[in-house]
Amino acid sequence: MLSVESARSRIGILRRYVYLDNASSGPLPDPVAYAVKSFVEEWASEGEPWEEGVLAGVECRRLFSQLINASPEEVALLPGVTYGLAVILSSLRLKRGSNIVVSSLNFPTSILIARSMASRGLVREVRVAEARNGSLDVGVYERLVDDNTSIVMIDYVGWLSGHVENLGELARIAHEHGAILVSDAFHAVGVLPVDVKSLDVDVLMTGSYKWLMSIHGVALAYIRGELLEELQPPYAGWMAVEDSVAQRLTRGEPVFERPIDTSKLNLARGALKLEWGTLPLIAVVALRESLKFIIEHRAPELYYNHTWRVADRIAEGLEDLGYKLYTPRDNHSAIVTFRHEKPLKLAEDLEKKGIKVASRPKLVRVSPHFYNTIEDAEKLLESLKELKSMI
Ligand SMILES: Cc1ncc(COP(=O)(O)O)c(C=O)c1O
Repeated sequence: MLSVESARSRIGILRRYVYLDNASSGPLPDPVAYAVKSFVEEWASEGEPWEEGVLAGVECRRLFSQLINASPEEVALLPGVTYGLAVILSSLRLKRGSNIVVSSLNFPTSILIARSMASRGLVREVRVAEARNGSLDVGVYERLVDDNTSIVMIDYVGWLSGHVENLGELARIAHEHGAILVSDAFHAVGVLPVDVKSLDVDVLMTGSYKWLMSIHGVALAYIRGELLEELQPPYAGWMAVEDSVAQRLTRGEPVFERPIDTSKLNLARGALKLEWGTLPLIAVVALRESLKFIIEHRAPELYYNHTWRVADRIAEGLEDLGYKLYTPRDNHSAIVTFRHEKPLKLAEDLEKKGIKVASRPKLVRVSPHFYNTIEDAEKLLESLKELKSMI
């Protein structure tokens, strides 16, 4: 098992910065940056490394399913979280005149997708569970979900406040009313332990470029096996059918010796039917390396517990300095956000001191990952103290 120190020695940017902005985008570990460079170099000197990219996709489905306790057939690779959610939601057969329940803590993308479904008449109503002070009680959902609800679509971890939803309870509420639970878990996978079977979630989506520490261009979706069988994708493509060229390559068969059958539509089994065409393969080879990096470091005592200690130290230190937290102290992930009148100025001042955090409207967000240390937390708090004394 690898240590925090060995991880840090393989993340180049940490030689220059205290990096506390994982909720915006993660830093690239050396093996991930190397995979990107070698893909381009290989293409420039030898031609497209297509086979490597396609086989890396098979590996990504396997590694991700290992990380979240699913089967690889339940995993689809899609071009991003927003595009991925749109593919899955447009494949659902919905109750007539139904409603979708979302949360005001969700990242805008899922709320806007729900609104677009309503504007096209696919659902009658979007119901928004309103948060108070960055936090939401399960009782609010209990009141909004009814037998007319088709989809409960809730982010696992709030992108701004870090609030962690009780997905197991949400699944129970959704299922009691014949609805499905769809969760954007972009701020959970890679930093929280996620077990889709025990959470009983129907769809769980995450992207590559935050807590999974890779580049843009590919996202990962889990779709429960039983639900997959019911999905009717509105479109298909050469990668979404049985005996696709990718399947032939994976089976070790000649790829382009037989034509692709277009005389009928024979959709691929499992989640592959949602993968319509070529993904940015450079992002896929990068994701393979980052998933390996994350899995190597996911021992609870080294990873989750350690990350929590760092996040808690930051939250406690911010309160001691007199900042008002937006993050709920009693239920948060590795996101610690506090209120500030000039967040952009503060983030810029911190960057001059070698510390990266994020500014959002009236908020500053600090988001440590497993490779951050208590010393990183102390350096942030010390710098904030110095900046305060200069006002
Ligand atoms: C929770 C969440 N979902 C989705 C997105 C956007 O994902 P993408 O632009 O890759 O579709 C973000 C981006 O910050 C996010 O925080």
